[in-house]
Amino acid sequence: MAKSIWKKMMGWAGNSGTESRRFSGYNIRRLIHEGDKAFVHQARSPETGEIVAIKVYKPLYNRTARRICKRYHLRAEGELGMLINPGEEEAGEDWPIVRTLGHGYEFNDPGKCYYLILEFIDGINVKHLLGCDDPLLRKKRLAIAMGVARALKIIHDRGLIHRDICSDNIILTREHKVKLIDLGFMAPSGIAFVEKSGTPSYMSPEQFMVQPLGAAADIYAFGVLLFELFTKKLPFTSALPPDNPDLFMRRMSEFMTQHIREAPPRPSEITSDLPEGMEPIILKCLEKSPDYRYLNMRALLAALAQVQESA
Ligand SMILES: Nc1ncnc2c1ncn2[C@@H]1O[C@H](COP(=O)(O)OP(=O)(O)O)[C@@H](O)[C@H]1O
Ligand SMILES: [Mg+2]
Repeated sequence: MAKSIWKKMMGWAGNSGTESRRFSGYNIRRLIHEGDKAFVHQARSPETGEIVAIKVYKPLYNRTARRICKRYHLRAEGELGMLINPGEEEAGEDWPIVRTLGHGYEFNDPGKCYYLILEFIDGINVKHLLGCDDPLLRKKRLAIAMGVARALKIIHDRGLIHRDICSDNIILTREHKVKLIDLGFMAPSGIAFVEKSGTPSYMSPEQFMVQPLGAAADIYAFGVLLFELFTKKLPFTSALPPDNPDLFMRRMSEFMTQHIREAPPRPSEITSDLPEGMEPIILKCLEKSPDYRYLNMRALLAALAQVQESA
């Protein structure tokens, strides 16, 4: 649906007039982001001055998400998010995953809206850094990779998978800490989802083939992210525009063929600026068969630590 129609339907949840709205006692201050699925606002508690981010799902997307949750007996995003919050002894500014502080429903015209209260992360997403070829990226690329790998290990150790690892879902904070965000597709390991969720450029062959997904699917997407961080290119692309609904299926099937059948280019064919030992790691993550990828994030972290040591 065109963005303008959404804006009309959701005027109350966008910038116009939203500043006066309250969610769980927080006052909305400004709109940070509007995507196809949700609005993300910055908000503030008038009592404590605490600043948070509030993600408000659009009703149509929310209905789809609820249907999927019911079909696969999944908990809602906010509950899963709270499950992976750090324990007291784990908490610290190095925690690599956005913290979920609360969640609930808001009843309003034009419908019921699910919202999440999240820790506010002051930073910039890695896709944006890649897009503007920021020199910071060259300096931080290995630290970003390690941060996301740590985040995935935490999620996998809790029996879950993220299912939407991509550069858009990683924030580098002002203090240069790495935070994985967008837990909207997180789910227990072992489910074969019929619905194509996630970002097509990062989706594993088994995801396209509707097979049960495990940690290996995140490891594949992480391989695509590594490829992107170190070559500034994606291994597989489509010339078809992403926002044309008439071309959606053709675009999906292009990606599907590439991810299932075609070997990715060697990163060293694209750039000579690769740390020693990085190319085999990327290619192992991008193996077509989950059996040939890293066994788990612990093994992958150990391989990355070796690259870091020799860098
Ligand atoms: N907790 C947060 N703190 C600050 N900004 C955030 C936060 N969560 C999301 N954002 C901003 O909103 C954008 C979209 O968030 P995301 O959760 O990925 O939504 P979508 O489901 O639309 O992909 C992010 O790239 C980031 O710029
Ligand atoms: Mg996102």
